[in-house]
Amino acid sequence: MIAPLFATERLVLRPLQSADAAGLYALFADDRVTEHYDLASLRSLSEAISLLQHFLNGNANPVASGFRWAITRKGQPEQLLGTCGVHSPNAAFHSIAIGYDLLPDVWGQGLAREAVSGMLDYCFSSHFPFELNRVTATTDLVSPRSIALLQRLGFSEEGILRQFGYWKEAFHDVRLFALLRQDWECQQSV
Ligand SMILES: CC(C)(COP(=O)(O)OP(=O)(O)OC[C@H]1O[C@@H](n2cnc3c(N)ncnc32)[C@H](O)[C@@H]1OP(=O)(O)O)[C@@H](O)C(=O)NCCC(=O)NCCS
Repeated sequence: MIAPLFATERLVLRPLQSADAAGLYALFADDRVTEHYDLASLRSLSEAISLLQHFLNGNANPVASGFRWAITRKGQPEQLLGTCGVHSPNAAFHSIAIGYDLLPDVWGQGLAREAVSGMLDYCFSSHFPFELNRVTATTDLVSPRSIALLQRLGFSEEGILRQFGYWKEAFHDVRLFALLRQDWECQQSV
């Protein structure tokens, strides 16, 4: 079973909780956060409550749904800086996909890198309910901050998935990135 709380140098990643609805609203009502996201900007707190419930339902069964963490600063556990998580788990293939987001006020400080790197370390180190071999992420074709983050984390771009998804009333091509266990292990030995 996942033990869902861990710390990095500056951050604590903890499970999302019902008190996070307002924080989630602040995050996903911001057009800068949703610009390259498969989600339209939230328009009401009730939409944030529904999104939160979706994450909480998933967290109750990580093998089927993955897990979404709240990103918080050490000593400020109530204040949501962003979220990150694993989704689309495939136990037979030992694979998972990831997502992440941060409040624009804290972009450019290396916090996403710290959180996602910590999450990857945590999941590859056998804390995820099955042994992971492959972690994927998809981005908009043009999504400079997200692509830079994945490259800094050692992900390789594998190509473009045409009309991979449908959101904001349109089909979207995405870039596919992946990090294999062997890539992650190489990083650990450097
Ligand atoms: C994607 C996202 C999480 C990236 O956030 P970010 O803050 O740019 O990412 P990082 O944590 O890697 O920070 C990198 C920046 O911090 C700087 N930095 C400062 N201190 C640092 C440190 N100690 N360590 C590493 N980088 C540091 C880097 O130089 C870099 O600066 P730059 O932006 O001027 O190039 C953020 O842009 C976001 O939330 N976007 C909206 C949601 C989204 O699109 N999610 C992805 C969907 S696919």
